[in-house]
Amino acid sequence: MSSPATIPGPPGLPLLGNILDVDPSNTWWSLRNLAEKYGEIFKIKILGHEIVFVASAALAEEICDESRFRKFVGGPIVEIRYAVHDALFTAYDHEEAWGIAHRIIAPHLSPDSVAAHFDELLLCTDELVAKWTKRLEPGVKFQPLKDLNNLNLEATTLTLFGKKLGAIDMEGDEHPMIQAMEDATSEAMRRPNRPKLLNWLLYNGKWKKATKTMRSFATGLVQYRTEHSTGRKDLLWALMNATDPQTGKKLTDSQVIDEIVSMPIGSSTAPCTVTATILFLLQNPEVIAKAREEVDRVVGRTGLLKQEHVSQLEYIQGIARETLRLSCAAPGFNIEPIPSKNDDKSPVLLQGGKYQIAHNQAMIIVLAGVNRDPAVFEEPHKFKPERMMGDNFDKLPAGVKKWFGNGKRSCIGKHWAWEFLLVVTAKLIKEVDFQAVDEQYVLKQDGWFNIRPTNFYVTAKARGA
Ligand code: HEM
Repeated sequence: MSSPATIPGPPGLPLLGNILDVDPSNTWWSLRNLAEKYGEIFKIKILGHEIVFVASAALAEEICDESRFRKFVGGPIVEIRYAVHDALFTAYDHEEAWGIAHRIIAPHLSPDSVAAHFDELLLCTDELVAKWTKRLEPGVKFQPLKDLNNLNLEATTLTLFGKKLGAIDMEGDEHPMIQAMEDATSEAMRRPNRPKLLNWLLYNGKWKKATKTMRSFATGLVQYRTEHSTGRKDLLWALMNATDPQTGKKLTDSQVIDEIVSMPIGSSTAPCTVTATILFLLQNPEVIAKAREEVDRVVGRTGLLKQEHVSQLEYIQGIARETLRLSCAAPGFNIEPIPSKNDDKSPVLLQGGKYQIAHNQAMIIVLAGVNRDPAVFEEPHKFKPERMMGDNFDKLPAGVKKWFGNGKRSCIGKHWAWEFLLVVTAKLIKEVDFQAVDEQYVLKQDGWFNIRPTNFYVTAKARGA
């Protein structure tokens, strides 16, 4: 067998490594550019740590093999443990808390549980549609992301925790929880790349304040439920009362707060996705026409959207998957080789020996590369919902379907997210006409744990008005 190829990467500077190759205020955009330049695999070195990035469908599929690899809990994920400790997203592989929380939470985010909250999701979505089509002054330009963030927080809080926040019609920009999540996740991304002393001296205030706001938000929900016991058996009920069937353990009060805070952070990826959908639709008017034909046929031009329609909206499903592929709203996830039981430190081979990595090498899957792999997709940058429907979708390799992560650590909110994407997209297609403020807008994204179109403005009015 020929010797493994060298993993390419930008040359970097002595001592500083590749610090100048990654923009600390837009890490994922830098990684997207590096993926476009270097292809299926590349590496960088920052503060003495080497990180390997995977950007092809075949390699992503290989390192998603759970018999060889697992989630790597490092960097920003370790930082955000300051706010949520050993919660689902942040737990190390060996921590018992993950299994307990997973078994308690998963039944309340199953497809049936999500469907049972359809009316609440629709209620929140109707409020936003009414805001955009009736209450906004005609021609007023706005960033759809901000309102969609509020919608998402409103819907997450109502469906999972049983409280109406009134976020959609709030005065001001966004609910304070949204700013706190933004501050916490941006800090979590930046802290690993700053000297510890600098973090402590200059950034601890912001870090602590964001954590306090998020945990107070969660505490308020627990308090509200305690004071307004309704017999509602939702996710919050399970967090506060349910027993893990395997260990017989319950979550501690602090763990309840950890898990509540984790849900809106995870869920905040969904409005980024819908914002990208609006952009892709505006860039592809023929897709809007086809989607409208489907919604009008299934729901009726003046009919009311119902839960039973959602699974019939196959073209809208294609739109949602194609948006997940191209927006990469959750931009990537971390993987490492499973440590060998007999302490074997031999290198790990990839692609049958084409590449070789250290036995403990952290890797990051860059979905912006994987999801546009030219070996899988013709015209990978084009928005084509048809390739994400029926047989076309089924035939795609598993590596390009990882927008909800992988295996046991994949997104526990994926059914909730899927319902949100379909319901909100169907309602917008059915009832709203958008216009881009800048017709020449070219997708640029930024963000931290999720990425969203930057400076994307539209105007909106009722369909056909
Ligand atoms: C379009 C929307 C969404 C996308 C693309 C998405 C994507 C992902 C990805 C890629 C992961 C794996 C992260 C990793 O391996 O480190 C993940 C995990 C997670 N997501 Fe989501 N997510 C979405 C919506 C949601 C929603 C709605 C919730 C909550 C209601 C949620 C809660 C979580 C949690 C708690 C985890 C950690 C699961 C674990 O490790 O056991 N996400 N998500």
